[in-house]
Amino acid sequence: MRDAGERSLARPGGFVGARIALGVSGGIAAYKAADLASRLIRAGSTVDVMMTDGATRFIQPLTFEALTGRAVFSDVFDGWKDGSAGHVSLARDADVVVIAPATANTIARLASGYTEDMIGAVALATEAPLLIAPAMEHHMWHHAATRANVQTLVDRGAIVIPPETGRLASGAFGDGRLASPDAIIGSLRAVLGQYGALAGRRVIVSAGGTREALDPVRYIGNRSSGRMGIAIAEAAVETGADVTIVATPGVLGPLHGMKVVRVESAIEMQRAIEEAVRDADVLVMAAAVSDFRSRTLASHKIKKKADQDLLTIQLVKNPDIVASITGERLLKIGFAAETRDLLDNARRKLLDKGLAMIVANDAVDTIGHERSTATFLFADRDPIALPSLSKDEVARRLVAEVISLIAERDRDA
Ligand code: C5P
Repeated sequence: MRDAGERSLARPGGFVGARIALGVSGGIAAYKAADLASRLIRAGSTVDVMMTDGATRFIQPLTFEALTGRAVFSDVFDGWKDGSAGHVSLARDADVVVIAPATANTIARLASGYTEDMIGAVALATEAPLLIAPAMEHHMWHHAATRANVQTLVDRGAIVIPPETGRLASGAFGDGRLASPDAIIGSLRAVLGQYGALAGRRVIVSAGGTREALDPVRYIGNRSSGRMGIAIAEAAVETGADVTIVATPGVLGPLHGMKVVRVESAIEMQRAIEEAVRDADVLVMAAAVSDFRSRTLASHKIKKKADQDLLTIQLVKNPDIVASITGERLLKIGFAAETRDLLDNARRKLLDKGLAMIVANDAVDTIGHERSTATFLFADRDPIALPSLSKDEVARRLVAEVISLIAERDRDA
């Protein structure tokens, strides 16, 4: 049998083509697993759903069959037909096994190895990574028995996606809400990518537009959504990188499976990046950094006067973050969003800022939009002109170039 490492090496990271065994156990949060399954399918994975009897009382297997286009397994004797060996086939074919929601009962059974259903049998038989997203009542989650069972599973290598705090099914407020689909998908992305080409590499990505404060409530900002930076961070996680995203408040995406450092101004971003790039292999500056900031910061809200028609604000230059950061082994990648003379301006920035690569694109077509028509320019390679692509696809292509630039750097070292 292939081990988990070989299995993951045999396919690129990410959700496309991944085989995911999704165990659903019997809590009210079972209905949320339908959304999770649907999102995994849309991301290109094949999802085999296993349900406990309890789960089938909360949600019909038919829901999952319709979403996944595949049979749903409950009884451990299910699936022994058409050359398939039931739980053994499911366990062998899975790139990852995720149990969401995992009730206290299911967690106890997984910890003890006492298996009477498909989920327990697959969890025992698989060599794939096991992710557990618990959901239960507050006191059950904190009970010493549950704590010990969770610890047992963690000690054996399971990844536990902690439940959230909030309103529970009982109406009470407490710990035990199933982690959001975004959090579960973020963990899955990291697990599926763990043997990728960037495994063991540290990648820092900046995202979003900086905010330069004028007074306690106002700031100078820009239209950057941070979408490109998020896409790059996710693509790097998909290939196994240890990613830190330095993000401004406008970056709203779910940022899971990566370390998140929040900043507002260019100066804060510079400090955060200086800290983050120690021992990093790559810095991707996807953020739209304000070139200037207000010379003064009013301690109270700036008031307009009755006879005032004009307000003058003096701006001072911000540091050029990517140019100021140096590191012998650090590969720096920048962006040039221009409204004219795109390639000439981008090439000049590539040289002035000491970059290994720059992504040139039209500012108006790109900022705030879902797609982008980019050209990659390099310090030592021929340029690559891409067609109009989704930002996710541009990010994947950028990460592919990063992998090749790192390989070249390591060869030359
Ligand atoms: O000079 P310009 O702002 O067009 O350069 C864009 C590139 O430089 C982007 O990668 C951006 O993140 C980075 N930059 C920076 N610090 C600044 C301005 C831009 O790192 N103050």
